[in-house]
Amino acid sequence: MAAPEEGRLLYGHRKYAALHLMHSRAIRLSVSPDTEYVYVTLGGTEFRDVQSLRFIDPRLASRIISFETDKARHKLATKTAEQLQAQGIPLTLLNKSFFDYERTDDLPHIFFLDLEGICAWGDYSEKLGQMFQDEVIREGDLLLVTSSLGHNPGTKEIMKTFAGEYTVLNIVGEEEAKKVYKRSHPSFTLYKALNQKGLTQELRIRCLGCIKYRDNSPMGIYGYSILTGATDFKQLINDSEIQYYDMNEVRCCDRADW
Ligand SMILES: C[S@@+](CC[C@H](N)C(=O)[O-])C[C@H]1O[C@@H](n2cnc3c(N)ncnc32)[C@H](O)[C@@H]1O
Repeated sequence: MAAPEEGRLLYGHRKYAALHLMHSRAIRLSVSPDTEYVYVTLGGTEFRDVQSLRFIDPRLASRIISFETDKARHKLATKTAEQLQAQGIPLTLLNKSFFDYERTDDLPHIFFLDLEGICAWGDYSEKLGQMFQDEVIREGDLLLVTSSLGHNPGTKEIMKTFAGEYTVLNIVGEEEAKKVYKRSHPSFTLYKALNQKGLTQELRIRCLGCIKYRDNSPMGIYGYSILTGATDFKQLINDSEIQYYDMNEVRCCDRADW
Protein backbone atom coordinates (compact mmCIF):
# COMPACT_ATOMS: atom_id res chain seq x y z
CA MET A 1 0.00 0.00 0.00
CA ALA A 2 1.39 3.45 -0.91
CA ALA A 3 2.36 5.67 2.03
CA PRO A 4 0.06 8.67 2.45
CA GLU A 5 1.43 11.81 0.79
CA GLU A 6 3.26 14.01 3.27
CA GLY A 7 1.15 16.77 4.78
CA ARG A 8 -2.18 15.05 4.24
CA LEU A 9 -4.57 15.48 7.17
CA LEU A 10 -5.87 12.01 7.90
CA TYR A 11 -8.19 11.74 10.87
CA GLY A 12 -9.30 8.49 12.46
CA HIS A 13 -12.59 6.65 12.59
CA ARG A 14 -13.63 8.05 15.96
CA LYS A 15 -13.73 11.58 14.60
CA TYR A 16 -16.07 10.62 11.80
CA ALA A 17 -18.16 8.33 14.01
CA ALA A 18 -18.62 11.35 16.30
CA LEU A 19 -19.40 13.64 13.39
CA HIS A 20 -21.95 11.20 11.94
CA LEU A 21 -23.67 10.82 15.29
CA MET A 22 -23.87 14.59 15.63
CA HIS A 23 -25.30 14.83 12.12
CA SER A 24 -27.94 12.26 13.11
CA ARG A 25 -29.01 14.30 16.09
CA ALA A 26 -28.94 17.59 14.22
CA ILE A 27 -30.90 16.19 11.28
CA ARG A 28 -33.47 14.54 13.58
CA LEU A 29 -34.06 17.77 15.48
CA SER A 30 -33.60 20.49 12.93
CA VAL A 31 -33.69 19.45 9.30
CA SER A 32 -36.79 19.05 7.18
CA PRO A 33 -36.30 16.32 4.56
CA ASP A 34 -36.92 18.40 1.45
CA THR A 35 -34.84 21.42 2.36
CA GLU A 36 -31.55 22.00 0.58
CA TYR A 37 -28.55 23.26 2.52
CA VAL A 38 -25.29 25.01 1.73
CA TYR A 39 -22.37 23.40 3.55
CA VAL A 40 -19.53 25.64 4.73
CA THR A 41 -16.53 23.88 6.19
CA LEU A 42 -12.81 23.94 6.94
CA GLY A 43 -10.77 22.21 4.27
CA GLY A 44 -7.97 20.10 5.56
CA THR A 45 -6.84 18.03 2.59
CA GLU A 46 -9.34 15.16 2.22
CA PHE A 47 -12.93 16.53 2.49
CA ARG A 48 -14.03 13.39 4.32
CA ASP A 49 -16.71 15.40 6.11
CA VAL A 50 -18.06 16.54 2.75
CA GLN A 51 -18.26 12.98 1.48
CA SER A 52 -20.19 11.82 4.57
CA LEU A 53 -22.73 14.59 4.27
CA ARG A 54 -23.21 13.97 0.55
CA PHE A 55 -23.79 10.26 1.34
CA ILE A 56 -26.48 11.09 3.92
CA ASP A 57 -28.26 13.25 1.34
CA PRO A 58 -26.66 15.37 -1.42
CA ARG A 59 -29.27 18.03 -0.61
CA LEU A 60 -27.58 18.59 2.77
CA ALA A 61 -24.60 19.87 0.79
CA SER A 62 -26.15 21.09 -2.44
CA ARG A 63 -23.35 23.64 -2.58
CA ILE A 64 -20.12 23.28 -0.63
CA ILE A 65 -17.66 26.01 0.24
CA SER A 66 -14.50 24.84 1.93
CA PHE A 67 -11.94 27.21 3.42
CA GLU A 68 -8.27 26.39 3.95
CA THR A 69 -5.82 29.11 5.01
CA ASP A 70 -2.71 26.95 5.10
CA LYS A 71 -0.92 27.15 1.71
CA ALA A 72 0.54 23.63 1.68
CA ARG A 73 -2.74 22.05 2.75
CA HIS A 74 -4.63 24.16 0.25
CA LYS A 75 -2.39 22.81 -2.50
CA LEU A 76 -3.08 19.20 -1.49
CA ALA A 77 -6.78 19.98 -1.03
CA THR A 78 -6.93 21.40 -4.55
CA LYS A 79 -6.04 17.98 -5.96
CA THR A 80 -8.68 16.23 -3.82
CA ALA A 81 -11.22 18.90 -4.74
CA GLU A 82 -10.59 18.30 -8.45
CA GLN A 83 -11.31 14.60 -8.01
CA LEU A 84 -14.59 15.35 -6.22
CA GLN A 85 -15.57 18.00 -8.74
CA ALA A 86 -14.96 15.45 -11.51
CA GLN A 87 -17.57 13.26 -9.77
CA GLY A 88 -20.05 16.13 -9.98
CA ILE A 89 -19.73 17.31 -6.37
CA PRO A 90 -20.37 21.10 -6.31
CA LEU A 91 -17.36 22.02 -4.21
CA THR A 92 -15.58 25.37 -4.13
CA LEU A 93 -12.26 25.49 -2.29
CA LEU A 94 -10.97 28.88 -1.16
CA ASN A 95 -7.54 29.79 0.20
CA LYS A 96 -9.21 32.22 2.61
CA SER A 97 -10.50 32.27 6.15
CA PHE A 98 -13.80 30.62 7.07
CA PHE A 99 -14.66 33.89 8.81
CA ASP A 100 -14.53 35.73 5.46
CA TYR A 101 -17.41 33.68 4.05
CA GLU A 102 -19.85 35.92 2.19
CA ARG A 103 -23.35 34.54 2.12
CA THR A 104 -24.98 34.97 -1.26
CA ASP A 105 -28.13 32.89 -1.04
CA ASP A 106 -31.02 32.29 1.27
CA LEU A 107 -30.74 28.51 1.53
CA PRO A 108 -30.12 27.44 5.11
CA HIS A 109 -26.53 26.57 5.92
CA ILE A 110 -24.68 23.90 7.82
CA PHE A 111 -21.43 25.36 9.14
CA PHE A 112 -18.69 23.02 10.32
CA LEU A 113 -16.02 24.91 12.24
CA ASP A 114 -13.73 21.92 12.37
CA LEU A 115 -10.98 23.41 14.50
CA GLU A 116 -7.73 21.77 15.52
CA GLY A 117 -7.35 24.16 18.47
CA ILE A 118 -9.65 25.36 21.25
CA CYS A 119 -12.84 27.28 20.57
CA ALA A 120 -12.47 29.42 23.68
CA TRP A 121 -9.39 31.59 23.45
CA GLY A 122 -8.26 34.14 20.89
CA ASP A 123 -10.79 36.03 18.83
CA TYR A 124 -13.37 33.38 17.95
CA SER A 125 -16.13 35.20 19.81
CA GLU A 126 -15.41 38.42 17.91
CA LYS A 127 -15.30 36.65 14.55
CA LEU A 128 -18.41 34.57 15.15
CA GLY A 129 -20.19 37.63 16.54
CA GLN A 130 -19.48 39.44 13.29
CA MET A 131 -20.94 36.51 11.35
CA PHE A 132 -24.10 36.66 13.50
CA GLN A 133 -24.33 40.43 13.15
CA ASP A 134 -23.93 40.28 9.36
CA GLU A 135 -26.52 37.45 9.27
CA VAL A 136 -23.96 35.19 7.64
CA ILE A 137 -24.98 32.72 10.36
CA ARG A 138 -28.71 33.09 10.92
CA GLU A 139 -31.98 31.43 11.98
CA GLY A 140 -32.44 28.02 10.40
CA ASP A 141 -28.72 27.23 10.25
CA LEU A 142 -26.78 24.51 12.02
CA LEU A 143 -23.34 25.06 13.47
CA LEU A 144 -21.01 22.21 14.39
CA VAL A 145 -17.76 22.96 16.17
CA THR A 146 -14.80 20.78 17.06
CA SER A 147 -12.57 21.91 19.86
CA SER A 148 -9.48 20.45 21.49
CA LEU A 149 -9.87 19.03 25.00
CA GLY A 150 -6.22 18.08 25.13
CA HIS A 151 -4.62 21.16 26.50
CA ASN A 152 -5.74 24.33 28.20
CA PRO A 153 -3.98 27.19 29.97
CA GLY A 154 -4.65 25.71 33.41
CA THR A 155 -7.46 25.91 35.95
CA LYS A 156 -6.41 29.31 37.36
CA GLU A 157 -6.51 30.93 33.93
CA ILE A 158 -9.82 29.25 33.11
CA MET A 159 -11.37 30.43 36.40
CA LYS A 160 -10.07 33.96 35.78
CA THR A 161 -11.10 34.21 32.14
CA PHE A 162 -14.58 32.80 32.70
CA ALA A 163 -15.21 34.33 36.14
CA GLY A 164 -18.31 36.13 34.86
CA GLU A 165 -19.74 32.95 33.34
CA TYR A 166 -19.09 30.97 36.53
CA THR A 167 -20.77 33.66 38.63
CA VAL A 168 -23.92 33.49 36.52
CA LEU A 169 -23.83 29.69 36.71
CA ASN A 170 -23.21 29.80 40.46
CA ILE A 171 -20.05 27.71 40.21
CA VAL A 172 -17.31 28.24 42.77
CA GLY A 173 -15.39 24.94 43.02
CA GLU A 174 -12.45 24.20 40.72
CA GLU A 175 -13.53 20.65 39.87
CA GLU A 176 -16.99 21.74 38.75
CA ALA A 177 -15.47 24.71 36.88
CA LYS A 178 -13.15 22.37 34.93
CA LYS A 179 -16.02 20.07 34.00
CA VAL A 180 -18.25 22.92 32.87
CA TYR A 181 -15.39 24.40 30.85
CA LYS A 182 -14.87 21.06 29.12
CA ARG A 183 -18.49 20.51 28.17
CA SER A 184 -19.44 24.14 27.54
CA HIS A 185 -16.49 26.28 26.42
CA PRO A 186 -17.71 26.57 22.80
CA SER A 187 -21.09 27.62 24.22
CA PHE A 188 -19.32 30.29 26.29
CA THR A 189 -17.74 31.54 23.06
CA LEU A 190 -21.03 31.56 21.16
CA TYR A 191 -22.87 33.37 23.93
CA LYS A 192 -20.06 35.93 24.14
CA ALA A 193 -20.26 36.32 20.35
CA LEU A 194 -23.96 37.22 20.60
CA ASN A 195 -23.56 39.34 23.71
CA GLN A 196 -20.72 41.46 22.31
CA LYS A 197 -22.93 42.38 19.37
CA GLY A 198 -26.07 42.95 21.45
CA LEU A 199 -27.82 39.99 19.82
CA THR A 200 -28.86 37.78 22.74
CA GLN A 201 -32.48 38.90 22.32
CA GLU A 202 -32.36 38.48 18.51
CA LEU A 203 -31.23 34.87 18.09
CA ARG A 204 -31.61 31.65 20.01
CA ILE A 205 -28.65 29.31 20.08
CA ARG A 206 -29.54 25.82 21.23
CA CYS A 207 -26.89 23.23 22.07
CA LEU A 208 -27.95 19.83 20.70
CA GLY A 209 -25.19 17.66 22.08
CA CYS A 210 -21.55 17.13 22.91
CA ILE A 211 -19.48 14.13 21.86
CA LYS A 212 -15.97 13.51 23.10
CA TYR A 213 -13.57 11.40 21.08
CA ARG A 214 -9.87 10.71 20.91
CA ASP A 215 -8.14 11.37 17.62
CA ASN A 216 -4.48 12.44 17.63
CA SER A 217 -5.49 14.11 20.89
CA PRO A 218 -8.71 14.41 22.96
CA MET A 219 -11.37 16.41 21.09
CA GLY A 220 -15.01 17.36 21.46
CA ILE A 221 -17.65 17.99 18.84
CA TYR A 222 -20.48 20.33 19.77
CA GLY A 223 -23.69 20.77 17.77
CA TYR A 224 -25.90 23.88 17.73
CA SER A 225 -29.05 24.94 15.99
CA ILE A 226 -29.67 28.62 15.37
CA LEU A 227 -33.29 29.56 15.94
CA THR A 228 -35.54 32.56 16.22
CA GLY A 229 -35.91 33.83 19.78
CA ALA A 230 -33.52 34.84 22.50
CA THR A 231 -30.55 33.13 24.14
CA ASP A 232 -30.47 32.79 27.88
CA PHE A 233 -26.95 31.91 29.05
CA LYS A 234 -28.00 29.55 31.84
CA GLN A 235 -30.47 27.80 29.58
CA LEU A 236 -27.84 27.41 26.84
CA ILE A 237 -25.42 25.76 29.27
CA ASN A 238 -27.79 23.77 31.49
CA ASP A 239 -30.44 22.73 28.97
CA SER A 240 -31.60 19.29 30.12
CA GLU A 241 -32.10 18.21 26.49
CA ILE A 242 -28.40 18.43 25.64
CA GLN A 243 -27.16 14.88 24.98
CA TYR A 244 -23.67 13.76 25.99
CA TYR A 245 -21.76 10.93 24.35
CA ASP A 246 -18.36 9.34 24.86
CA MET A 247 -17.07 7.96 21.54
CA ASN A 248 -14.05 6.41 23.26
CA GLU A 249 -16.38 4.18 25.27
CA VAL A 250 -19.07 4.15 22.55
CA ARG A 251 -21.84 5.06 24.96
CA CYS A 252 -24.04 7.89 26.13
CA CYS A 253 -22.94 9.43 29.38
CA ASP A 254 -24.28 11.69 32.08
CA ARG A 255 -23.27 15.26 31.74
CA ALA A 256 -21.45 15.05 35.09
CA ASP A 257 -19.17 12.33 33.66
CA TRP A 258 -18.51 13.89 30.29
C1 LIG B 1 -9.52 19.76 11.23
S1 LIG B 1 -8.98 20.33 9.70
C2 LIG B 1 -10.34 20.08 8.61
C3 LIG B 1 -10.58 18.64 8.27
C4 LIG B 1 -11.75 18.38 7.35
N1 LIG B 1 -12.98 18.97 7.84
C5 LIG B 1 -11.94 16.89 7.20
O1 LIG B 1 -12.78 16.30 7.90
O2 LIG B 1 -11.22 16.30 6.36
C6 LIG B 1 -9.02 22.06 9.90
C7 LIG B 1 -8.30 22.80 8.80
O3 LIG B 1 -8.74 24.16 8.82
C8 LIG B 1 -7.65 25.02 8.58
N2 LIG B 1 -8.04 26.28 9.24
C9 LIG B 1 -7.97 26.60 10.55
N3 LIG B 1 -8.56 27.78 10.78
C10 LIG B 1 -9.03 28.22 9.57
C11 LIG B 1 -9.77 29.36 9.15
N4 LIG B 1 -10.14 30.30 10.01
N5 LIG B 1 -10.12 29.45 7.86
C12 LIG B 1 -9.76 28.51 6.96
N6 LIG B 1 -9.04 27.40 7.31
C13 LIG B 1 -8.70 27.27 8.59
C14 LIG B 1 -6.44 24.31 9.14
O4 LIG B 1 -5.27 24.66 8.43
C15 LIG B 1 -6.80 22.83 8.92
O5 LIG B 1 -6.24 22.32 7.74
